[in-house]
Amino acid sequence: MLAKYFKPSLLKKIAAGAGTPVYVYSKAVFLKQIRAYKKAFRATAPLFCYAMKANSSAGLCALAAAEGFGADVVSGGELYRALRAGFEPGKIIFSGVGKTPEELEYALKAGVLFINAESFEEVLELERAAARLKTRAPFSLRINPDVDPHTHKFIATGKLGTKFGVSFEEAQKIYMYAAESAYLKPVGAQFHIGSQVHTAAPYAQAAGRLAAFILKLASRGVNLKYADVGGGWGVKEGAEMADLAPLARAVEGVFEGTGLKLVLEPGRSIAAPAGILLTRVIYRKRGGHKNFIVVDAAMNDLVRPALYGAKHPVALIGPGSGPEAVYDIVGPVCESGDFLAEDARLREPAAGQLIAIYSAGAYGFSMSSQYNSRPRAAEALITGAAAWRLIRRRETYKDLTAPEIP
Ligand code: LLP
Repeated sequence: MLAKYFKPSLLKKIAAGAGTPVYVYSKAVFLKQIRAYKKAFRATAPLFCYAMKANSSAGLCALAAAEGFGADVVSGGELYRALRAGFEPGKIIFSGVGKTPEELEYALKAGVLFINAESFEEVLELERAAARLKTRAPFSLRINPDVDPHTHKFIATGKLGTKFGVSFEEAQKIYMYAAESAYLKPVGAQFHIGSQVHTAAPYAQAAGRLAAFILKLASRGVNLKYADVGGGWGVKEGAEMADLAPLARAVEGVFEGTGLKLVLEPGRSIAAPAGILLTRVIYRKRGGHKNFIVVDAAMNDLVRPALYGAKHPVALIGPGSGPEAVYDIVGPVCESGDFLAEDARLREPAAGQLIAIYSAGAYGFSMSSQYNSRPRAAEALITGAAAWRLIRRRETYKDLTAPEIP
């Protein structure tokens, strides 16, 4: 299990040095996940574009870039971070349903590999941006393959009726239009069916539809180079990532012999297992029939339990006292939705004791906010058996008010 990468003695040192709450990442686990992808897909050696929204911390992104990964970005801000972290522009793809004209221009100037467009209007905007820059914009279309990924409704994107992508019919019209344009260069087709997807079947279904469409397009004279199957492979919270072999078999099987270069956009499965949120017990209390542990991390630090009902495993650092009992682990924020775990079985922690919340490396810090004027947490990276360094300092009260204009 993952606990062996997060040794209690080291976590105590990190908490003493960096304070709490602090996100703690393991370089070893992050690299292990990256290498698992390379190994599972060694037959086709796709371009892996790490989905930065999962965790865009420069300390982690630089590791992915050094492993040869590209990046999937969804905003000008993420593109800025990607370039700073050292991702090669030619390995960056730009996704998202509502890119502004400024963002499109920024991406073209940066020289990204392609832009994943999601509507006819966006393609027309991209054409105008390319005309202004006197260039041809390489783009791919995000196509909605209308498959059910069987995941939480907030993170299911592959069915028609969500805001994502265009239908195959609409895609065909757009590609035929682009083929005639002096400023557009259709290079790929993409889908992303959702996140926390645990079986390969929906990928196989979507990939089959995409491959058939790309072939049909070729017969009409539009030859694409890239088939991008998005991200979304699941991580059982607290456990390691689901085996990648079925995913690789499903996707590689479909595109074998097509001559297309495969692109994947994994985020969570790379970052989630590599991180924990380390927090300190402030108080214990009983309320009605419930036992509460009040800690110094809150929903502003990790919103996933409140937003998606996510169940992150929790572990005491060091022994507790008495027999195991059932606790809700809650933060200081003034909302009943502010919990990090409900009905967790633990021995009783002491005030001041540390608690680790697992599987928090993805969509943890990146979704954090300053709600309740709580400065955002620090981030630390474990780099060796007993070595760690800070990769983001804790925000201060001054950081809270710095951008304000009284
Ligand atoms: N590509 C695109 C176009 C995406 O929209 C996403 C995630 C990914 C790749 C990466 O998916 P992953 O491999 O990380 O599952 N905040 C939610 C997850 C939102 C996912 C949004 N899109 C959560 O905490 O569960």
